[in-house]
Amino acid sequence: MLTHKIEEVRANVKKWKSEGLVIGVVPTMGALHAGHASLIKKAVETCDKVIVSVFVNPIQFGPSEDFDKYPRTLEADVELAEGIGADLIFAPSADEMYGEGQRLSNDTLTYVAPPFFYVNKLCGKSRVGHFDGVCTVVMKLFNITQADYGFFGQKDAQQLIILRKMVNDLNVPIELIGCPIVREESGLALSSRNKYLNEKGKEDALALNKILNNIKMCYNKGVTDISALKETAFQFLNEAHELEYLEFVDKENLEDKEKADDNTLVLIACRVDGVRLIDNILLK
Ligand code: PAJ
Repeated sequence: MLTHKIEEVRANVKKWKSEGLVIGVVPTMGALHAGHASLIKKAVETCDKVIVSVFVNPIQFGPSEDFDKYPRTLEADVELAEGIGADLIFAPSADEMYGEGQRLSNDTLTYVAPPFFYVNKLCGKSRVGHFDGVCTVVMKLFNITQADYGFFGQKDAQQLIILRKMVNDLNVPIELIGCPIVREESGLALSSRNKYLNEKGKEDALALNKILNNIKMCYNKGVTDISALKETAFQFLNEAHELEYLEFVDKENLEDKEKADDNTLVLIACRVDGVRLIDNILLK
C-alpha cells in the first residue's frame, strides 16, 4: 500500500505494535534498483512488516547538486517494493516531512548533526551539510516508523558508519543491518545516478571497481604501504575521470590508516563524465 501521510504510517505502526509484530524500515530516495531490492528482500526475511520510504530529501543536497534532476519513478518503485513483499511504501512530500512552507535551513529546523570528525572527510568534504541532512531525515523516519530494524547498504559506507554512531550516541531503539553492495555483472556498483551515464560513461565508470579490486589484489600479495597501493590506481584513470578521493580508513570509525590491514575500508569517489560516483571495498 502506498501512503503520502505520516498519520497513516503511524496508524499502521500502532496496530502492528499492538499485535507484537516486528517492524523493519528501508529508507530510500526512490529510483529503486536491484541494490535497493536486496535491502527490501533482507527486511522482508527479517521482519513481520516492512516499510519502504521513498523521499528525495531536499536537505541532504547542496545548492549546486542534482536535487531537481534526481530520477523520480514512484509508480515503478511501488511495484518493485510490493513485489518483494513490502507492506507499506511511504512517499511523503517535503511539506509533509518538514511542515508546510517550512524554510529548510538549520536556522529554522532542528537538525541531527553528526560529529565533525565523521563528516569532515570523504564525501562530507565536498558535500558540506550532506550528512546533517541524512541523519536528520533518517532520525525522523525512525521516529515515524518506530521500526525495530533499519536496513542500509554498504554501498554508502560512510553513511552507514555515521548512522550507527547516531543510533549509538542518541540511544535510538533500533538495530541497523548493513547489506552488501549489489553490482552489475561488469562490476559497476548499482546506483540511481548510473542513469545519468551514457554507454561510454558506463564503460569509464568500471574504473572505480577495477581500482578497488586491484588494490585488494596487491594487498593480498603483501603490499600494505598506502602510497604504493594508491599509485596502482592511476593506470585505470583517463581524461573522463576526475578523482575526488581514494582513502584508506578503519571500517568501524573512519580513522585514517597508516598501513593497510584486514580492517581497512578503501573508499573512492570519482566523477565520470561529470557524474559523481562512489564505491568501496573491505580489504579482508
Ligand atoms: P539511496 O541512495 O536511495 O539509497 C538507499 C539505500 O540503498 C542506502 O542504504 C544505500 O546504501 C542502498 N544502496 C544503494 N545502492 C546500493 C547497492 N548497489 N547495493 C546495496 N545497497 C545499495 O542513501 C540514501 O538513499 C539516502 O541518503 C537515505 C538514507 C534514504 C536518506 O535520505
